[in-house]
Amino acid sequence: MVDLLTKAKSVARHAYNPLSHFHVGAAVLCSTGEVFLGTFFESSSAPVGVCAEQVAIGAAITSGFRAFRIIAIVGGGGLDEIGMPVKPCGKCRQTLADFAAVSGAEIVVVCSDMSLSQVEVTSISALLPDPFVLPMIRRS
Ligand code: THU
Repeated sequence: MVDLLTKAKSVARHAYNPLSHFHVGAAVLCSTGEVFLGTFFESSSAPVGVCAEQVAIGAAITSGFRAFRIIAIVGGGGLDEIGMPVKPCGKCRQTLADFAAVSGAEIVVVCSDMSLSQVEVTSISALLPDPFVLPMIRRS
């Protein structure tokens, strides 16, 4: 789990963050052991931005992996800030709930600040209980 957090932290610095100046990195561990990384990028049109979690999950999907076991999320307002664990936004919770349903397994969500000193381990079912999931995508 520390390894996954370290990997997530390693890409947080690459965030394209002209609006927020925030940093977030995500690392998703697949059921077969592969790890995919992502950071976020913002846009002049703020809602167009894409979260670190979406980028990491997109990288995994692109390489043919969709069974996720753990996602680590590391972030903060500065690269050496000691703050609060960064929690996934609502959109990312929906995405994780969908892929938990696809693989029929819980996804552990590890949230951390940038210094890896404030770490919270939770799960997608705790972060988004009773999610909306289309019947046809279950175990697809
Ligand atoms: N952000 C993420 O990438 N993941 C999260 O879990 C929280 C927020 C990004 C998106 C946004 O551009 C920036 O952080 C500031 O909210």
